[in-house]
Amino acid sequence: MRFFLLAVGLLAGFFIVHGQNYVNVPLKSNITQVNPMLGLVFWDDNYFTPYTAYSLEYLYLPVNNLVIGRINGTLQYNWTYLENRLNNIANRGHQAIFRPYYEYPGDPTAVPAFLKNISGYKGQVYSGEEFMDWRSADLRILHLDMHTQFALRYDSDPRVFCVQTGFGFWSEYHISGGPNLQLGYNFPSGEFQLEAITLITSLFKNTPVLYSIDIADIYDNWCPVFQNISNLPFGSFDDSSFANDTQDWNDGNKQRLGWWTRYQNQPLGGEIAYEDNVQQHALDMNGPEGVPLPTYVANYHYTFLIANDQTTYQYNGPLTQVQRIQQV
Ligand SMILES: *[C@@H]1O[C@H](CO)[C@@H](O)[C@H](O)[C@H]1NC(C)=O
Ligand SMILES: *[C@@H]1O[C@H](CO)[C@@H](O)[C@H](O)[C@H]1NC(C)=O
Ligand SMILES: *[C@@H]1O[C@H](CO)[C@@H](O)[C@H](O)[C@H]1NC(C)=O
Ligand SMILES: *[C@@H]1O[C@H](CO)[C@@H](O)[C@H](O)[C@H]1NC(C)=O
Ligand SMILES: *[C@@H]1O[C@H](CO)[C@@H](O)[C@H](O)[C@H]1NC(C)=O
Ligand SMILES: *[C@@H]1O[C@H](CO)[C@@H](O)[C@H](O)[C@H]1NC(C)=O
Repeated sequence: MRFFLLAVGLLAGFFIVHGQNYVNVPLKSNITQVNPMLGLVFWDDNYFTPYTAYSLEYLYLPVNNLVIGRINGTLQYNWTYLENRLNNIANRGHQAIFRPYYEYPGDPTAVPAFLKNISGYKGQVYSGEEFMDWRSADLRILHLDMHTQFALRYDSDPRVFCVQTGFGFWSEYHISGGPNLQLGYNFPSGEFQLEAITLITSLFKNTPVLYSIDIADIYDNWCPVFQNISNLPFGSFDDSSFANDTQDWNDGNKQRLGWWTRYQNQPLGGEIAYEDNVQQHALDMNGPEGVPLPTYVANYHYTFLIANDQTTYQYNGPLTQVQRIQQV
């Protein structure tokens, strides 16, 4: 499988991925050392040289930059924004991780203006911020159609390593700190979640789809159909990775996701947490909180970790930070 080759490449550093000229290479089974450093991911607006220091770039896709209208019932897409970014990433010899989202705290929802304008659509306002209105059948149709278009265009596209998707803040599958959960209103109903995840995971046959670990949060119940979807073929991501504070809670979700076997078939990723000094000291020889990054990555079988600010820090060793980032 394509992603698995990449994952092994990330860990062993024995080939360079060229996004536009992707070739399958035979696996070398003799991997004797973990190399997570090429699995560090930078946002595509923060790229740096040498490009060989990393393999993956990340971008957020606000849904209203893509879906721009509806004519006679057919949704209208503008692919330019996403295509330009994927091409730029591929031109640097990298693959993309992209994540469509509707909700980004502090911003208006990225629901397209034409859809917000449809009679009856009215998101709940909480603390001055508008949340989603999943009562809207138009919105639900858009969600399914958009992911169908993604699969048609990007499943097996060598520019794309994986798609992260979901609902809620940053598509991280929660609205923590927002209004009380109202399934079917400010968050999709369980029935619709089941329909969407079943469809999306069936459409992507080669390019992996990843859902946040919050999908397995049984306490807040964001996904009341978790039992029904947990065996579907999706990878996962933890955007508060590597912090001791949240590790126990995250581990519970990971346990329910079958994280320690899921990695055999799907990529598992995340972002190094912006908590305490975890980002600042992530590459220190002994890690930020007593565990070195390579040990942590090996324990959790991570394929990649978003680490966007790493070039602005200096780890506590003799190499430059970029040398450390690309260190094999
Ligand atoms: C695996 O790699 C190690 C270290 O490079 C080497 O000593 C060993 O002979 C290799 N084993 C095989 C089966 O290639
Ligand atoms: C929409 O459908 C109507 C009726 O079929 C047709 O007359 C009209 O040209 C269509 N409009 C567009 C923009 O396709
Ligand atoms: C499509 O998106 C591009 C890039 O964001 C923008 O420049 C262009 O005006 C858009 N086209 C339409 C028809 O909205
Ligand atoms: C909103 O609806 C009005 C009335 O139907 C229409 O004139 C306007 O173009 C719509 N705006 C958008 C962004 O769809
Ligand atoms: C989800 O799975 C449970 C237990 O297997 C079952 O009782 C329930 O009907 C399923 N829900 C849906 C919506 O399929
Ligand atoms: C973080 O956890 C590791 C083991 O999981 C432990 O060795 C270390 O002391 C902890 N660090 C802090 C600062 O709590």
